[in-house]
Amino acid sequence: MHKNPDEMQNVIIFGASGHGSVVLDCLEKEGKYNVIGFIDSYKKKGSRINGYQVLGSEFDLPYLINRFNITGGLVAIGDNWIRKLIVDRIIKIIPNFNFVNTIHPKAILGKDVLLGCGNVLMPGAIINANSVIHDFCIINTNSSLGHDGIMESYSSLAPSVCSGGNLFLGQFTAVSLGVNIINGIEIGKHSVIGAGSLVVENFGDNIVAYGSPAKVIRKRVIGEPYLSTSKKQQLPELKNLQKVRSNLSI
Ligand SMILES: CC(C)(COP(=O)(O)OP(=O)(O)OC[C@H]1O[C@@H](n2cnc3c(N)ncnc32)[C@H](O)[C@@H]1OP(=O)(O)O)[C@@H](O)C(=O)NCCC(=O)NCCS
Repeated sequence: MHKNPDEMQNVIIFGASGHGSVVLDCLEKEGKYNVIGFIDSYKKKGSRINGYQVLGSEFDLPYLINRFNITGGLVAIGDNWIRKLIVDRIIKIIPNFNFVNTIHPKAILGKDVLLGCGNVLMPGAIINANSVIHDFCIINTNSSLGHDGIMESYSSLAPSVCSGGNLFLGQFTAVSLGVNIINGIEIGKHSVIGAGSLVVENFGDNIVAYGSPAKVIRKRVIGEPYLSTSKKQQLPELKNLQKVRSNLSI
């Protein structure tokens, strides 16, 4: 339900990519927060995305928080590992920063669902009863998490994932576009299930699996890009972030 604009808290979105636009759309339609603009160190300060300004980088945060009375924000980075690096950077700059959730009005939350912080629930997402979504997860367009599911922090369901009950997804694990998962499956951390797979067995940590039925194809290093269209862009971005990270000794 849309709040009176005077009662709405001001929030900022980190990441002005396509995913950032979808997050903006969710926040606008949810009507709970007032979006002030974007933070993106790779986009020109002052440029406009969907009518909102890129206001600077994370390092401008202390100034922007005072200037615009910002009370929180959301990290709109699709890659699970890069999202964590950005969250770490923000916490280093503003230790008690308030990461909000956004739930699109066309998303459905079942009974006794628990949500942490910094999560994005896109249009058509369905989280069934008794499920637990930890922090900084993405449940993308038309994806469903069956009853009693657990998504650990920084895990994600891409668009049109269908999962049966009691799924356990470890930290940073990505389930790609259009995957089906039968009930009672456990998948470890830092793993990727490739697009279009059918998962009928458990998988461990740090693997890439795909196919129907899905099989382990290879090992995977932490932070390896998996969102195919942005592979080339993400590698240098990841290196830069790691450089910044070591400078900040996070
Ligand atoms: C799983 C994934 C990361 C694999 O990437 P990769 O290891 O770099 O694989 P490559 O693209 O180099 O392909 C290697 C081979 O595996 C095949 N392959 C890759 N992904 C596959 C999949 N999901 N199912 C079946 N075969 C697949 C390729 O066709 C290729 O076959 P070839 O050697 O016969 O030519 C990628 O396919 C994927 O699914 N990415 C996620 C996309 C997504 O969900 N985006 C969401 C946007 S919101």
